[in-house]
Amino acid sequence: MIIGGSASQKLAANVARELGDVLCPIETKKFPDGERYLRIKGEIDKEVTVIQSTGFPQDENLIELLFLIRNLKSLGAEHIKVVVPYLGYGRQEKRFKDGEAVSAQIVSNLIESSGANEFISINLHEDSVRDFFEIPTANISAMPPIADYISEITEDPIIIAPDKGALGFAEEIAEILGCSCTYMSKVRLGPDKVETKIVDVHSDFASDELDSIKKNSKVNIDSVNGKEAVIIDDIIATGGTIVNAIGILKEHGAKSVDVCCVHPVLVNDAVLKIFAAGARNVAGTDTLKSDVSDISVARIIADALK
Ligand code: R5P
Repeated sequence: MIIGGSASQKLAANVARELGDVLCPIETKKFPDGERYLRIKGEIDKEVTVIQSTGFPQDENLIELLFLIRNLKSLGAEHIKVVVPYLGYGRQEKRFKDGEAVSAQIVSNLIESSGANEFISINLHEDSVRDFFEIPTANISAMPPIADYISEITEDPIIIAPDKGALGFAEEIAEILGCSCTYMSKVRLGPDKVETKIVDVHSDFASDELDSIKKNSKVNIDSVNGKEAVIIDDIIATGGTIVNAIGILKEHGAKSVDVCCVHPVLVNDAVLKIFAAGARNVAGTDTLKSDVSDISVARIIADALK
């Protein structure tokens, strides 16, 4: 039995279809004073999977998730798998400044103590967030469906990580598609300001990593000349990271630039900024609902639940 929270209803329906499983209806609403109401309608199974992302509005979606888990437990569910495709607060996994709340830890503790028996997420910003849980966890990669999508919209792509943190995603897609990849170096100057530079791929890696460079076909930025460049990142928030990367790719002669991400957080006019910078297309997955959530993670979630 699958239950979709209000942030992930269509995704939950698609996962249920993939698994041939039943969807349990729920009712959620906000009282006039802003408090949340939740009702699970109908009989529940002993084993239930809850699917609910905790993106914007983060606090409301999180509270609804906690209400779902705890309510299921008190209604007799014995094993609850909790799928949070996009984990809000997942980026504060440590105390960067004295006195800060480690919000990823607090949220993880809340999910587990509410009654979750397993936790599954997709491309957690930091895999170490799984260490906050004592229950079994999985952090699934959305790169296979993203690679399928890229293979449909391009003929001869080169995959670009807009910062070193995204290099693993670019390598994974390049490996699946049998193409080259490269990356840029990024420094964050503020919440909505980043500085991006090109790197010499070969001198940036220690010599003991050279084998992996060859194996993964990492190339310097000049190789984008005349090619279909595809940028991949885990999150697009303000779009600043992607806008900078598009500028560099255009300067280096890319024939076209397509943009893919796992989690389309998309603050304000991020999509418009990215198209205005020259992107041919922008696509994200349906871990979050958005105008560009064209790639579904339903199948990889279903596979993880099997
Ligand atoms: C940062 O490490 C992430 O991977 C993304 O690059 C970042 O969240 C993107 O943020 P923005 O769209 O605001 O530049």
